[in-house]
Amino acid sequence: MKLVYFTLTGQTRRFIKKLDFPSFEIDPTNPFTELNEPYIIVVPTYDEDVTEVVNDFIEYKSNRQNILGVAGGGNRNFADLFIFTAKDLARDYNIPLLFEFEFSGTDEDVKNFKKVVKEIESKRTE
Ligand SMILES: Cc1cc2nc3c(=O)[nH]c(=O)nc-3n(C[C@H](O)[C@H](O)[C@H](O)COP(=O)(O)O)c2cc1C
Repeated sequence: MKLVYFTLTGQTRRFIKKLDFPSFEIDPTNPFTELNEPYIIVVPTYDEDVTEVVNDFIEYKSNRQNILGVAGGGNRNFADLFIFTAKDLARDYNIPLLFEFEFSGTDEDVKNFKKVVKEIESKRTE
């Protein structure tokens, strides 16, 4: 199992690095990569044209079947638009919205998201 993420300005990458869990970064050069294992997608929030590369990845071959859920990064100043990219993915692909955080996450976010990830992982190996 991996955390698959996208980042434009590096905040999401910083959050992921703090989690100390196997990960894969989607960037515009590699969306058509088949992961061949279950994953949680972690995305910041931008207009659709910016995050389209994430949809390309999810829709590629078995990646669509292997997605377990989504976590969203954003900025609460955007109010109703907070983490709308993650919410859109949850709705469009019918997957759970597992976690939300701002920027590169607080220490508390790191602790709590680790818990979520570990729970999912342990359920999968029961
Ligand atoms: C142009 C622009 C638009 C953004 N729009 C939203 C938004 O609608 N909702 C939200 O929650 N955050 C929004 N954000 C905040 C980013 O999602 C947030 O800063 C995130 O941590 C950036 O992650 P990254 O550094 O991994 O790209 C926006 C940021 C920028 C620069």
